[in-house]
Amino acid sequence: MEQQFPFLPRHLAIIMDGNGRWAQARGLKRVDGHRAGADNVRVIVTECRRLGIPYLTLYAFSSENWKRPPAEVAALFSLLLDFLGTEVARMEREGIRLMVLGDVEGLPLAQRTALKHAMKRTAQGRDMTLNLALNYGGREEIVRAARRMAEAGLPPEQYTEARFADFLYTQGQPDPDLLVRTSGELRLSNYLLYQCAYSEFYFTPVAWPDFGVDALHEALRAYAGRSRRFGQTQEQVNGC
Ligand code: IPE
Ligand code: IPE
Ligand code: MG
Repeated sequence: MEQQFPFLPRHLAIIMDGNGRWAQARGLKRVDGHRAGADNVRVIVTECRRLGIPYLTLYAFSSENWKRPPAEVAALFSLLLDFLGTEVARMEREGIRLMVLGDVEGLPLAQRTALKHAMKRTAQGRDMTLNLALNYGGREEIVRAARRMAEAGLPPEQYTEARFADFLYTQGQPDPDLLVRTSGELRLSNYLLYQCAYSEFYFTPVAWPDFGVDALHEALRAYAGRSRRFGQTQEQVNGC
């Protein structure tokens, strides 16, 4: 691990926000911002893998984003196909396992097919798990987990936190240690509501297309300076 990070998050979750405003501030179209944002995904995935962060989750399309103009939704899905087209081979080569958090069946056919192909091809990746939250809503995830648990026929005494987590999209993964949101908004927007119970939050005014390696390092340094107590006193955490 690099000297500047005494410890890194095992799981980093990012709300990639601000593509539209980034573009508008430059007299460009919102879709140009999304394209710049997609390019930045490549940069951040590469750097997280290089640093050795084992789980990275990127909020790419929320269940509420369907309310956007159809042309913008279409552009986002087209960029997703482009991304998969160029990145799957690289992910496979670099040991990156791709997973989707969200309702894949509710995505357009071409994207659904490409994602399933990509997940299959990268399933053996051991160096990093890249979760794309797509057609994802935190409340939907929780309700779905409850429904799936009931369908599994578990008796009420087995409704524990640990079992419940097995029915979430993030099954088997650690909770996010650090949640980053770019572009200045101070809200969760229905992201990982269950999993972020004890995550550290980091908000930055930097728009997603500008959130490069240096900005990532700054967030990671801020995280390394946090004192996570999980309900205990600082003395207990220090072991004295
Ligand atoms: C984030 O950027 C990308 C998605 C939500 C898909 P936005 O498109 O939300 O950018 P702003 O918030 O309008 O600037
Ligand atoms: C959250 O951003 C969703 C993604 C980044 C994909 P939004 O831009 O959609 O969030 P709100 O609507 O401003 O809360
Ligand atoms: Mg936004």
